Amino acid sequence: MRALVTGIAGFVGSTLAARLVREGWDVRGIDMLSNYYSPKLKLDNLARLNLEPSRFTQQDILEMDLTQALQDVDVVFHQAGQPGVRSSWGAEFSIYTEANIRATQVLLEAARNSKTVKRFVYASSSSVYGDAERYPTLETDRPSPMSPYGVSKLAAEHLCVLYARNFGVPTVSLRYFTVYGPRQRPDMAFTRFCEAVASGNTVTIYGTGDQIRDFTFVEDIVDANVRAATEDVAPGSVFNIAGGTNISVNEVLTLLSAIAGTEVRVSKQSAVKGDVFRTGGDSRRASEELGWVPRVSIEEGLSRQFAWASDRLNSR
Ligand code: UGA
Repeated sequence: MRALVTGIAGFVGSTLAARLVREGWDVRGIDMLSNYYSPKLKLDNLARLNLEPSRFTQQDILEMDLTQALQDVDVVFHQAGQPGVRSSWGAEFSIYTEANIRATQVLLEAARNSKTVKRFVYASSSSVYGDAERYPTLETDRPSPMSPYGVSKLAAEHLCVLYARNFGVPTVSLRYFTVYGPRQRPDMAFTRFCEAVASGNTVTIYGTGDQIRDFTFVEDIVDANVRAATEDVAPGSVFNIAGGTNISVNEVLTLLSAIAGTEVRVSKQSAVKGDVFRTGGDSRRASEELGWVPRVSIEEGLSRQFAWASDRLNSR
């Protein structure tokens, strides 16, 4: 099977590509190496994949020849995008509309014209729900994003459904719930917490720390992608991919303190606009149709991320 992974140098893209390579897929990747966070970290992610140079293209999706990029490709894993819930306000929003909405639309057009693409997996987000109608939230509950980022992810997801309905593009959207694990983006909570604790610094909490997340370990997210690419599901399907934790930021820090064997010092800042109070996904549909269930508990996953963060600090 030939795969194209967009955003291959990122956290999820590179972890996914590593598994695909291990399992004998023919993997190509694209990534513009944007400066949302240090491109050096992305180059490190890429290096560990050991791809032949011809298999990687550093370019913006909006500027490339997508017919060529999709030539002979069986599965597109569309992981590229401008991330970050808290930084999507103001003038920055145009980056989100370009990288998340328009880039998805041109890729969908290319997939529509391709004779080989059998599956188009889109990395959607729990942020489409906002503060949801109920918990655990079902895919059929009304989306109501609280951040411009969530709006852009939902718009692109709608495009995936539209292209499936109108042109039969075999899209599957996976709504990821806060992904964590080794190589997590540096702006995200667990990376910031682990680095602060490993280096004896103070952890910053936005708001009270009572906010709840359904954290999902990156290998479980990768597994959902592989299943979405290979299981027989209807074009235009949408799935929650939620780790099943129902844990507050304060509880995460208690757990981290036990894992690290040290007290965690915290300082509180005001809550950030766009941050939802709670996420919690019902993943029954993914279990029934993809055979997916989360396998990594928060205790194991956070231990693995803390070990990774500590090693990285020690090797600096
Ligand atoms: C994450 C990703 O960053 C989004 O790209 C993704 O779309 C979203 O998950 C999702 O599930 O759809 P978020 O839940 O905000 O968003 O992820 P974290 O950065 O791990 O934050 C978790 C919680 O910790 C938030 O309430 C945040 O305010 C808080 N936090 C974060 C802190 O208290 N301190 C920090 O230093 C960082």
